Amino acid sequence: MAKELIVNYENQPCYSIYIDNSYDAFCDKINDIPNFKKSKTCIVTDSNVANIYLNDMVEFAKNTFEQVFTFIIPAGEANKNLSEIEKLYEHLIINHFDRTDSLIALGGGVVGDMTGYTAATYLRGINFIQVPTTLLSQVDSSIGGKTGVDFNQYKNMVGAFHMPKLVYINTSTIKTLPEEQFQCGMGEIIKHGLIRNANYYQWLKDNYQDILNLKDDSLADMIYESCLIKKNVVEEDPTEQSIRGYLNFGHTIGHAIEKLSDFKLYHGQCVAIGMVAASYLSKQHGNITGEEYIDIINTIKLYNLPVKCSLTDSSAILSATKSDKKMIGNKVKFILLKSVGDAYINTDLTEEELLGAIEEVL
Ligand SMILES: NC(=O)c1ccc[n+]([C@@H]2O[C@H](COP(=O)([O-])OP(=O)(O)OC[C@H]3O[C@@H](n4cnc5c(N)ncnc54)[C@H](O)[C@@H]3O)[C@@H](O)[C@H]2O)c1
Ligand SMILES: [Zn+2]
Repeated sequence: MAKELIVNYENQPCYSIYIDNSYDAFCDKINDIPNFKKSKTCIVTDSNVANIYLNDMVEFAKNTFEQVFTFIIPAGEANKNLSEIEKLYEHLIINHFDRTDSLIALGGGVVGDMTGYTAATYLRGINFIQVPTTLLSQVDSSIGGKTGVDFNQYKNMVGAFHMPKLVYINTSTIKTLPEEQFQCGMGEIIKHGLIRNANYYQWLKDNYQDILNLKDDSLADMIYESCLIKKNVVEEDPTEQSIRGYLNFGHTIGHAIEKLSDFKLYHGQCVAIGMVAASYLSKQHGNITGEEYIDIINTIKLYNLPVKCSLTDSSAILSATKSDKKMIGNKVKFILLKSVGDAYINTDLTEEELLGAIEEVL
C-alpha cells in the first residue's frame, strides 16, 4: 500500500513524499505537481545506480516528459565536488535547458545532494525531483532541501537550501543495496527513534528480524515513520536554527571518527559509534539509566553496526571533534538525550567529559 506525506515549507504545502514498492505511480505523481513544466528533464544518477535502474527510469520519464536526457556521475563520495557539477552545467547548457526544465536525482545521497545543488544554482534555480535509492537517502538526505558538495577535504562545505518538487521513494530499491549501505541507513533510523520517538525505537527492536529480512510491509512502515520524523523536524526548523540540530545526534564524535579513519568506516557506522558516545554522556548526566544505555548499545548491535572503533588516539578524536563545523564560539554544540526518544542541545560539556565518552568507544 502506497503512503504519502506532504512537507510544508514557510507554512505552505511544498512537496509530497510518496512511498511505494514500485515506480508505477511515478508519472501520476509528476502530473500532480502544480505548475510543473514537462518539456525537458535530465535524470542524474551514478555509475552503479545507472546499471540497475536508469533504463527503466528513462522509460517512465518518457511517458511524462517530452524530452529525457541523462547524466552519469562516477559513484562515490570522492566525486561529490564542483568539477563534476561543472560537467553537469555544461551538459545542461549544451542541451539548451532553460528555467522551466527540471532535473531528476536517481540515486543515493551523493546524487541527491549534487543534483539538488545543480538545480539550486543553474540559471538561479530550476525544479528538481528526488528519487532516492539508498535507505539513508530515503529516510534522510532527500528530505529537507539541504543540497551541496564537498570542497577539498571539507565535507558539504558549499551548498544551498533548495526544496525538491517531489520525493518518490520506491522501497524495493533497498533489495539491491549492498549490506553495509543498508546498515548505514539503519544507523540514521535508530537515531530517529532515539531523538524523537521512544515507541518507534521500541518498534525497531521488536521488528528487527522482519526488517533485516527486508520484509516489504516492515520496510514500508519503517521508511514512512522515519520520513515522518524527518519531515516534522525540518518543517519546524527548516534552516537548522534549533531542533534540526537534533539530527546531528551521534554525528559530532561520529564525524571525527569518520575523518580520522580516512573514510574507511562508513558514515552510518561512525554515527553508530558516535551515538554510543553521546548516549554514554547522557547517562553520565543522569538523563538515561545504565540499563537504557546498555539497551541502546544492544539495539545498535542488533542491526550489525559497530559500537566501538579501532582508533586508539583519543586526543586526536577530541581535537577533530572540536573542529567540527557545528560549534557555538569555542564550545562544541552537542546533542544529548533528555530521555530515550527526546533530545536536546548541550553546549557546556567539558573536555574531560568528551574525552571520557571517546575513550568509552575505543
Ligand atoms: N542533504 C542532506 O540533508 C543529507 C543528509 C545526510 C547525508 N547526506 C549526504 O548523503 C551522502 C551519503 O548518501 P548515501 O549513503 O546514500 O551514499 P551514496 O549516494 O554514495 O550511495 C551509496 C552507494 O550505494 C550505491 N547505490 C545507491 N542506490 C543503490 C541501489 N538501490 N542498489 C545498489 N547500489 C546502490 C551507490 O552507487 C553508492 O555506491 C553523503 O554525501 C552525505 O553528505 C545529505
Ligand atoms: Zn548522518
